[in-house]
Amino acid sequence: MKKIGIFYGSTTGVTEKIAKRIGEALGVPPENVFNVKETSPSKVGDFDVLILGSSTWGSGELQEDWYDFLDGLQALSLKDKEIAIFGCGDENMSDSFCNAVGIIYRRLLQTGAKFIGDFSTSGYSFEESKAKESSGMAVGLLIDETNHPELTRRKISEWCDELNNRIK
Ligand SMILES: Cc1cc2nc3c(=O)[nH]c(=O)nc-3n(C[C@H](O)[C@H](O)[C@H](O)COP(=O)(O)O)c2cc1C
Repeated sequence: MKKIGIFYGSTTGVTEKIAKRIGEALGVPPENVFNVKETSPSKVGDFDVLILGSSTWGSGELQEDWYDFLDGLQALSLKDKEIAIFGCGDENMSDSFCNAVGIIYRRLLQTGAKFIGDFSTSGYSFEESKAKESSGMAVGLLIDETNHPELTRRKISEWCDELNNRIK
């Protein structure tokens, strides 16, 4: 049985709440859900599967606590890890919706990790996102609690079902 760790950064608590709900859906014990603000990047060494969550701030930037944590992760070899990314944003920031998910994805590509969290963006209306690929899929789970809280429960449930199938 693979060990899952959830690592999130959250300024106003939205991504924290979603991280905990994802943890419940995947059966991750609360002690394995970490705020990156108070966690060393080396902690990921304890886990086989990393679920990484960041909201997007500024004009399409990482949540502030992610900068140091991501630098730390990039310095590690993650080639034996499976990674799934999620993020919270606001579709009204239409040219940078949930950009942080795409930023984390691109920065970690070189670590050799296997990415398992790509997902549909259905239900949200936006122009551009660094998280969206040419296929139309996002490289992770995008959540908009501000404009579409009614979609959150189903999206978490479907994403976690897919993760459970992909985690080998
Ligand atoms: C000043 C400011 C800038 C923001 N910029 C973006 C953005 O570029 N893209 C986006 O999708 N959301 C943006 N948001 C929305 C936040 O990401 C959203 O409110 C999120 O739920 C916050 O999550 P957190 O409390 O976990 O940090 C912005 C919000 C604020 C207040």
